[in-house]
Amino acid sequence: MKEYNNAIVEIENGTAVVTLNRPQALNALNDELMSEINDIFTDLNQDNSVKVIILTGAGEKSFVAGADIKEMKDLNADEGRRWAEKGETTFLKIEQCEKPVIAAINGFALGGGCEIAMACDIRIAAENAKFGQPEVGLGIIPGFGGTQRMSRLVGRGMAKYLIYTANMIKADEAYRIGLVQKVVPLASLLEEAKSLAQTIIKKSQTAVCFAKDAINRGAEMSMANAMAYEAYIFGMCFGGEDQTEGMNAFVTKAKPNFTGK
Ligand code: CAA
Repeated sequence: MKEYNNAIVEIENGTAVVTLNRPQALNALNDELMSEINDIFTDLNQDNSVKVIILTGAGEKSFVAGADIKEMKDLNADEGRRWAEKGETTFLKIEQCEKPVIAAINGFALGGGCEIAMACDIRIAAENAKFGQPEVGLGIIPGFGGTQRMSRLVGRGMAKYLIYTANMIKADEAYRIGLVQKVVPLASLLEEAKSLAQTIIKKSQTAVCFAKDAINRGAEMSMANAMAYEAYIFGMCFGGEDQTEGMNAFVTKAKPNFTGK
């Protein structure tokens, strides 16, 4: 596996754990780290040994404390737009990665940190996690997809409440509003994420990958087009071996042995 200056990638049992590793800046996203995330997700998407990806932050205090304010503070308007575009492109790479991505959120998930978590498929938070979009307190708006993904995940009213006030919310409130799917003790966060990864890995990877595609692409379409797309993908499932394996296993009361074909 490649070495990175600001991230660690470990692969075991079909799961890649990507740890964002700038603890001196609470894992804030600087330009170099964003480039590294881009490279990592390009590689992991192509690596057949990887079925599920977990994204987490180094240390116990912070998942990601946002985009790097020190790197951002002297940008002009044009540079600011390009900075946002880089973050948006990077996070789209995560969202569009063909494998499920689980965010294991340990501590602060602020600004770009909350935004990178929202680009993941499923979010598990440690009890110490804190979420927020503090940007308006810095004279900017969320620029790595936050205005769009937050509204889509928790509804426009709650997104506006969080973004206009810059209020931080704790893990239990994030769970209540549907921003995270599970809250667990910090000590068991990675184990919970890995266990969830194994649950997914036991299923048909082709079907999981198709489901991700149908959910994500469908969200960009009208209901009628999304239904048509779902039916098309549903049909594609019948062209593969996993559908035969899964349904034969049901009928013969055996455990399916999926190959992802
Ligand atoms: N960028 C750069 N450095 C950061 C950082 C960030 N987003 N967040 C923390 N750090 C650095 C601090 O500057 C500090 O470094 P020094 O020791 O060199 O001063 C170090 O990390 C530790 O941080 P604190 O001393 O501040 O730790 P704390 O426990 O007192 O506070 C915190 C923790 C509440 C998270 C606080 O660090 C904080 O408010 N950070 C900024 C959060 C924020 O505003 N994020 C949004 C950024 S804008 C954005 O993300 C825009 C976008 O959508 C693209």
